Amino acid sequence: MLTVKTIPELRKARMGLPSPVGLVPTMGFLHHGHLSLVKKAVEECASVVVSIFVNPTQFGPQEDFGSYPRDIPKDLELLERLNVALVWIPETGEMYPSGFQTWVEVDSLSRRLEGDMRPGHFKGVATVVTKLFTAVQPEKAYFGQKDAQQSVIINRLVLDLNLPVEVVICPIMREDDGLAMSSRNVYLNPDQRIAAAVLYRALNVAKQEFQNGENDAERLREIMLETIHAEPLAAFQYVSCANPETMEEHSGSFERILLSMAVKFGNIRLIDNLVIGK
Ligand code: PAJ
Repeated sequence: MLTVKTIPELRKARMGLPSPVGLVPTMGFLHHGHLSLVKKAVEECASVVVSIFVNPTQFGPQEDFGSYPRDIPKDLELLERLNVALVWIPETGEMYPSGFQTWVEVDSLSRRLEGDMRPGHFKGVATVVTKLFTAVQPEKAYFGQKDAQQSVIINRLVLDLNLPVEVVICPIMREDDGLAMSSRNVYLNPDQRIAAAVLYRALNVAKQEFQNGENDAERLREIMLETIHAEPLAAFQYVSCANPETMEEHSGSFERILLSMAVKFGNIRLIDNLVIGK
């Protein structure tokens, strides 16, 4: 496994990699969710590149960029075991050269849900992912359903810019109590950690009601909210039933819907989602 930092180093190493090349973009502090993407890429590709870059432009001014967890030695140790060909750890100054002013923006999809709560977030994501794709030129790229809206936005961006990349979306990996794995989970204190299972519980209560015949999006939102409210340590930011393709909030009956939510435990913000229906 080779580790590189600069773009010239990356390009040189990339030239020697057998095709197809799969890219797994990450912000590091890897857990089994990230590793499930890497394993899938290793299964499907002749060479796998993992990028580790805590992208400053996708964090708002009041967000946790400074305190986002980092542990490169541990990340490299985990990747070493998985047959990864190349790890790219870009430097901020090279990704965003001084005077930087070229952005990629996926329009209305980026303004809903997470984008509504985190203005500019998806502009940062779309820009950095485009730059990662341009530098690595992978045939395939792997993302997690954990960030459902991000996945939809990346698919849109690949279509709109005619990028020659096949995007593969992988299922959400969870802890035993259902909590979606996330780098930010380490910041939960023991009580918050127990309480955090409420996200998955709320999604499942709604799914259960849907299976029992409840088909009104408004009602499912209420059911999820009631479940979140019953957990004193949880403060919801949004609870949504949205069209899984457009991310538009839905009302009334539906065939297929994206249930999603953002919930805060103290300063720690967690998201989760579940698609129900056909
Ligand atoms: P990060 O949060 O590090 O996640 C990297 C990838 O791992 C994303 O595609 C994310 O959806 C996936 N992932 C995270 N937790 C997961 C889980 N529990 N199960 C399955 N997949 C999971 O997402 C980002 O970084 C950044 O926005 C990035 C795309 C790298 C751009 O900066």
